[in-house]
Amino acid sequence: MPRTVYIETVGCQMNVLDSELVVAALHKAGYQISDQPADADLLLFNTCSVREHAEDKVYSALGRVAPLKRAKPGTVVGVLGCMAQKDQELIRKRAPHVDLVVGTGQLARVPELVEKARETGQPQYALSLGRADAGRHAVEASFVSFDPARDSAARPTPFQAFVRVQFGCDKFCTYCVVPSTRGPEQSRHPDHILAEATQLAGQGCKEITLIGQTVNSYEFDHGDGRRTRLADVLAKLDAVTGLERVRFVTNFPKDMTDDLLQAVRDLKTVVKYLHVPAQSGCDEVLKRMKRLYTVGEYRDMLARCRELVPGVSVSSDFIVGFCGETEASFQKTMELVREARFKNSFIFKYSERPGTKAAERYADDVPEDVKKRRNNDLLAVQNANSLADHRAQIGQMVEVLVEGPSKRAQGRAAAGGEVIQLTGRSMADHIVVFDGTPRLVGNTVRVRVDDASAFTLYGRVVTGEGTAAGFAYTPDSARAAAEGEDAPAYPAPLDFAPPAEKRIGLPLA
Ligand code: 5AD
Ligand code: SF4
Repeated sequence: MPRTVYIETVGCQMNVLDSELVVAALHKAGYQISDQPADADLLLFNTCSVREHAEDKVYSALGRVAPLKRAKPGTVVGVLGCMAQKDQELIRKRAPHVDLVVGTGQLARVPELVEKARETGQPQYALSLGRADAGRHAVEASFVSFDPARDSAARPTPFQAFVRVQFGCDKFCTYCVVPSTRGPEQSRHPDHILAEATQLAGQGCKEITLIGQTVNSYEFDHGDGRRTRLADVLAKLDAVTGLERVRFVTNFPKDMTDDLLQAVRDLKTVVKYLHVPAQSGCDEVLKRMKRLYTVGEYRDMLARCRELVPGVSVSSDFIVGFCGETEASFQKTMELVREARFKNSFIFKYSERPGTKAAERYADDVPEDVKKRRNNDLLAVQNANSLADHRAQIGQMVEVLVEGPSKRAQGRAAAGGEVIQLTGRSMADHIVVFDGTPRLVGNTVRVRVDDASAFTLYGRVVTGEGTAAGFAYTPDSARAAAEGEDAPAYPAPLDFAPPAEKRIGLPLA
């Protein structure tokens, strides 16, 4: 009987990619994937520390699997990722049944450590060095361990993939744990990125998303006077046969250079979408966050994006209720969101993280109910803008890479085969829902937008294979009512729990 692994992933796209790589390594070592924890010999939790809520979810999942481990003591339970790197002792204290604690930079060792845990019955730890534990070079090396062999069966969809271009972060925003959980910022060699993208394209991958905490600060120093920047990487990827779309997240406002914007404008494969978190619309708050820019500079950057890349869509992140955020400072954030016409915004309530500068220096002094109210108020302003932005597209044609059935997909018989509701994204990253045959999944189709909500464009396929002749999507009032239930429809670029169907827990071939 082959061994089986069950894996749950919370957190950002880095974690989704890490889980894919762990699954691929385990697959190579003979494991099958199971979506039932009770059936698995190995239970893995890839974790996130950005907010307390994400950590609570992991501790409760660990509590849920404790009886499985008691019933089948040979089961190995592992905690991977950011929490493992940050809280190894606490994890063992709160969940003594955990056998494996593996930090973000050591994940390539998972197969070996699982065997060791089985053989010895002893808990296994693999962690990278703390930022102050050694010289920069040694710390950097301890965060880079993954062999980027890719396995399309380990991905939620074979035609989309993440590619890491940068490790870690050196910005040290005062609220954020990432610089300590993912270590120093390091840009990968452009040849390695190109080789990986070429390998992925060879596996049938049409869209890649380059990921880095501050991806637009990517810069590889060749050591001989040459430097490769993100715009250069995008130009190389544009020439890779089979790749149709290249996206990149997440951007740091201060590092948004004109050469990158020109690359976004000129390269046919590059998606016309920029995620550039502002975090706050108030200079004093930005200063306490140590974001290194003022609201005026952010606004100028936004104007430059729109001037250099006509039609570009921009999204942002905001933290509400950060230490010392007064009603007046919050109103400045409201004003920024009102004016900026973001495609969408990911809004988070501040969560104090032990070990960060903000936790050390400032009191978490905005009460929870005020954070909640500010969150809702900001979301309402954003949603009104999103709706206006979406409605302005009614009547336009968009190119959609079809990702799969929509959340409410229901098969219906139609002339020429089954027709279901499909979902995909436009070149400007708008979510587009329309009817078509399941054969369209993984293809790019042209859709005319007929209707729009704050979260979704609705349309019909106008050309291409699989069009159900005469089949138009009819908007209905029930749909609009149902929409509120699953809002927000956008997964936050660097902070989301993948929806159940996208969790890496699909059966491997
Ligand atoms: N509390 C709340 N939100 C946070 N983020 C990062 N750290 C925190 C925190 N301590 C948000 C930021 C970031 C996104 C990924 O998560 O908005 O852009
Ligand atoms: Fe780095 Fe982003 Fe965290 Fe700031 S918020 S420290 S840029 S990961």
